[in-house]
Parts: sequence; structure tokens; C-alpha cells
Amino acid sequence: MTEELASTSLSLNESSADSTEPVVVYEDVSIGFDRKPVLDNISFKVQPGETRIILGPAGCGKSVLMKLANGLLCPDSGSIRVFGQEITTMHENDLFKLRSRIGMVFQESALFDSLSVEDNVAYRLHEDRVPEDEAHKRVVEALQFVELEHAIAKFPSELSGGMRRRVSIARAIISSPDLILYDSPTGGLDPITSTTIIELVVKQRDVSHTTSLLITHRLQDAIVLARNRFNLKAGKMELISDNGIDDSTKFLVLNEGKVVFDGATKALVHTTDPWLKEYIS
Ligand SMILES: Nc1ncnc2c1ncn2[C@@H]1O[C@H](COP(=O)(O)OP(=O)(O)OP(=O)(O)O)[C@@H](O)[C@H]1O
Ligand SMILES: [Mg+2]
Repeated sequence: MTEELASTSLSLNESSADSTEPVVVYEDVSIGFDRKPVLDNISFKVQPGETRIILGPAGCGKSVLMKLANGLLCPDSGSIRVFGQEITTMHENDLFKLRSRIGMVFQESALFDSLSVEDNVAYRLHEDRVPEDEAHKRVVEALQFVELEHAIAKFPSELSGGMRRRVSIARAIISSPDLILYDSPTGGLDPITSTTIIELVVKQRDVSHTTSLLITHRLQDAIVLARNRFNLKAGKMELISDNGIDDSTKFLVLNEGKVVFDGATKALVHTTDPWLKEYIS
């Protein structure tokens, strides 16, 4: 990516949330389906610029937790504040405005099969009636960011799993969101492709400093995120020297509807909790 593009991302992101308060606050949030509790009194905060990695066994409620953050689901009880606003009581019009500040990468990419890559990535810009020339320019920039500009005219059926995730990321970042929700962006990918997707997450984190929630099943992804920085000059991510850890990367581990860990990488790695030790081993 060119430095010019990087500065575009930065300047577009200057309208970020008020940096004095957390971007996301969950307080005593509970939700269940068909009388089966899924999340039980969940509380945590995400600070501006933080990348919060969400781990936990399959079916423990990670996607549900993420869908609560942009109002796709509403909790049975508790409070959720995003950008300082209570969203659990918001009307659909206000939720629509809220979602325009949030980029989401869905668990299975969720691209529209009948639309080209260009129209998939431009989807939100078309909704916002951005003029065609401007939309095209921004699609090209977003596709350059994910190194997929050559695929602009292709259709989702012509793409590999890794390419679909890239398109999905381009679609999520195109409106320079203040918050990005990545639901299992590496799910179902081989380890090498997974690392290239995580590199894009690291790049977005270090170039635009966008606050993010990221669900993953692979602890390896989380370790790569925590131990690397994006070097803009070299155009790739690099290990942080002296075994350093990225301070903006934090963890939330869920199990059986509860938060079993909320904190920094080092504390997670050195946990003495038997279940957690087993889970991350
Ligand atoms: N809309 C819904 N209606 C009914 N049940 C739901 C709904 N969404 C999720 N669930 C249930 O909530 C539980 C948690 O689902 P969720 O998708 O959040 O799990 P997950 O942790 O994301 O799993 P995975 O790691 O497999 O992606 C599951 O039992 C699921 O069946
Ligand atoms: Mg899920």
C-alpha cells in the first residue's frame, strides 16, 4: 500500500469516537434463546484503538456477543453503550446511523453472490448515494488495501475462500468505520492464508488505529496479532522486537455464558486458572 493511501485512511479516521471514553461498554448483559441462556451477565469495555480478541469454545455465544454490539440482536437485560450511546433502547433509525460507523466482517464472508466484487465492496456507498466516480475511487483504494484490486470485476463464485475474506474486509473498511467487528475472519482457511488475513487486521490496526472486536478459533491468530506490528515502509508485518507485545491487543474469553478472562496478553499466557490453561494450551 502507498503512504498516500495510509494518510487517507488516517485522515478519514480522525472523526473517531471521543477518546476519553470507551468505544464499547457491556454491563451485566444477558441473552438467551428458547429459554436457553447463552450469555449470562457479561460485562467488559473496549477502549479507543483497542483490538479485543474474543475466544471461547464453539457455540459459546461469541457471534451473539458481536451481533449485540451493532444492534443486530437485543439483550434480554443489561446495558450496551457504543460510542457513548445506549443502544439497547435505540430506535431503528438511530441504529441505522450507528451501523454506518461500524464495519462488520461476517462469519462466512456473507458476500452477495449476484454482485461483482466492486458492487459488493461499494454496497454501503451505494446505500449512502455516494456519486459513482467517488465510489469507484474508494473501492479501488479499499481493494488496494487488501491487495485485491485485480479482482474488482470478478464475482464471489470465482474467488477462493481467502479472497472472499479480503473482499469482506474491504467492504467493512470502505467507510472508514470507527469500530470494526471481525467474526472469525480466518475460519475455515488454511494456516498460511489465515496469516495473510491476520496481517490485514494488523495493518488496519496499526495504520488506522481502528477499535476492533475480533472472534477467532485459532489461538495462533491471536498470538500473531499480539506479537506483530505493521511496517508501512516495508509493506508487511514484522515481529515486535525483544519479544514485545502490542499493548492495544486485549482478550476476552467466554465459556458457558460467562467471561472467564478479560485482560492483556501476558496475563492470559501466565494464567493459573486450570480451565483457561487447558483451553489455551
Ligand atoms: N438467532 C438465534 N436464534 C436462536 N438461537 C440462536 C440464535 N443465534 C444464536 N443462537 C444460539 O446461541 C448459541 C451461541 O451461538 P453463537 O453463534 O454465538 O456461537 P459461537 O460462539 O459464535 O459459535 P462458533 O464458534 O461455532 O461460531 C448457540 O447455541 C446458537 O444455537
Ligand atoms: Mg460464531
